[in-house]
Amino acid sequence: MIIVGGSSSRDLAKELASILGCQYIQAASTKFPDGENYTRIDCESLNDDVVIVQNTYPDSNMIEMFLLQDAVRRMGAKTITLVIPYFGYARQDRVFKPGEPESAKVMCRHLDMACDRVITIDIHKETVLDHFTCPHIDLKAAAVIADHFKSKGIDLVLSPDIGAAGRAKDVGDRMGLPHDHLEKTRLSGVDVKIAPAKMDCKGKKILIVDDMISTGGTIIAAASALREAGATSVSVACTHGVFVNNAIERLTGSALDTVLCCNTLENEVSHISVAGIIADAIRKG
Ligand code: R5P
Repeated sequence: MIIVGGSSSRDLAKELASILGCQYIQAASTKFPDGENYTRIDCESLNDDVVIVQNTYPDSNMIEMFLLQDAVRRMGAKTITLVIPYFGYARQDRVFKPGEPESAKVMCRHLDMACDRVITIDIHKETVLDHFTCPHIDLKAAAVIADHFKSKGIDLVLSPDIGAAGRAKDVGDRMGLPHDHLEKTRLSGVDVKIAPAKMDCKGKKILIVDDMISTGGTIIAAASALREAGATSVSVACTHGVFVNNAIERLTGSALDTVLCCNTLENEVSHISVAGIIADAIRKG
């Protein structure tokens, strides 16, 4: 097996290859002067099972993935597995208003043209993967998040909304801790309202878990509601740290003690590795 790392996921791809004890090839990725992507896999042939590790966010990385799929196939890959740590467009999983495209489906259909298996991690909507015709699996980061926070004295695991309640349960159960969820109302793309916490937060160390942090609006509002309810410390762990518009700075300057995410998107707080769970899934076949 050969692991090919795209430009979005080099460290993760390298770690994965090291765990699996297989060859790692880093694709060379640059831009043409007009901004178009250029990529090249610098080796003689790829006469083996090939795993490409590359995000499909932002758009330029989606294009790079298409190019890598073609390059890998031309070089003789026996099978192509796509590891897509953060699947861009998964939140646009349906037509919300007439005239819109079904964006997630469009992306799946294009990626599906050159792959034999797809592995994602905590994709926003798992049903999106049904648009692939090849076998697919969505891995859960709950185990690595729970492991990371096991010795940190957490008392309660919460999700910021009911949509992520299952995630809080999964992490809470693995840590042997109670779990619950807050009530969130989304007011706009950037503004959210979190209702005052109903659970007993007084004197507690709380861990909030979510699939992703984008603007940080959800988590900042959740942390402030929990502090108001008497929590002594509030940490957040998400799978995907998208962090748009200086979100990391706003989060670290808020009512939060710790901000951590998995390395599905590589950034300064992506210290929880999902390489081990990806390796396990690849070994299982
Ligand atoms: C929503 O369903 C997701 O699980 C996240 O809570 C949301 O996408 C976070 O967005 P933001 O950081 O912009 O509030």
